[in-house]
Amino acid sequence: MTITSKPSASPRSLNEPVLSVKGVTLEYPDGSDGVLTALDSVSLSIGPGEMHSLVGPSGSGKSSLLAVAATLISPTRGSVRIDGEEVTDLRRRRRDHIRREKIGMIFQQPNLLASLTAEEQLVMVEDFRGVSRRDAVSRAREALEVVGLSNAGQRRPHQLSGGQRQRVNIARALMGSPSVLLVDEPTAALDHDRSESIVRLLRRLTDEMGLATLMVTHDTDFVPLTDVVVTMRDGVLSDPVRTKTAAGPALSD
Ligand SMILES: Nc1ncnc2c1ncn2[C@@H]1O[C@H](COP(=O)(O)OP(=O)(O)OP(=O)(O)O)[C@@H](O)[C@H]1O
Ligand SMILES: [Mg+2]
Repeated sequence: MTITSKPSASPRSLNEPVLSVKGVTLEYPDGSDGVLTALDSVSLSIGPGEMHSLVGPSGSGKSSLLAVAATLISPTRGSVRIDGEEVTDLRRRRRDHIRREKIGMIFQQPNLLASLTAEEQLVMVEDFRGVSRRDAVSRAREALEVVGLSNAGQRRPHQLSGGQRQRVNIARALMGSPSVLLVDEPTAALDHDRSESIVRLLRRLTDEMGLATLMVTHDTDFVPLTDVVVTMRDGVLSDPVRTKTAAGPALSD
């Protein structure tokens, strides 16, 4: 893995955002005969090296937006473009490919396999991708180093702290050198100091790898570490608001 932006063979032009969501509406069946509108004409765009915070009350549609951006759910209407490619109408195989190669996902709970060491969790991802064992091990070690865990590769999840487990989770999401990072409440299970170091790590990775990062957070303390904040209410997304302190010296990890 190279910890720089991946040379892209994509149709994205220089001025085009890496992640672009336009007019996305998502309706779920409501259990009786009607529909529940989880996302209502939502638009956002994120360029390389930009980190956006997504805040809003419980049930407002934040995770639904991440699921649509991750190509896990097709929207009822609207467009999602990743690296310039429209992904909403693609066949399943192509969508799976884009998800594997271009999207890193990080959820609240690390969801690591109890019997595997930190290094093995990462090697497994590369196995799925058809990477040789030797290359997979070397990429896994590089990713662990990037998240500050070079000495923990042989430890299993129960031998790691909550913050360290989340770092393994982040390293795993980086294995394919994604261009988009989608993060859903990564600090909900951590205390304030550990939470801050995780958000700072995500900020640094966004900068160094040129990622387009969208992070759901309930903790507004960390919003100033990101470039832009958007607020979801009842499936409607606010206009983006630029944060003021995004590029200060305090951002170094
Ligand atoms: N698979 C589903 N089927 C039907 N309704 C769903 C489904 N998933 C989510 N919803 C509904 O869509 C709305 C948005 O849910 P979503 O999970 O996106 O909210 P959220 O903002 O992430 O909330 P939280 O902060 O609690 O995680 C909610 O009303 C929820 O009940
Ligand atoms: Mg959610």
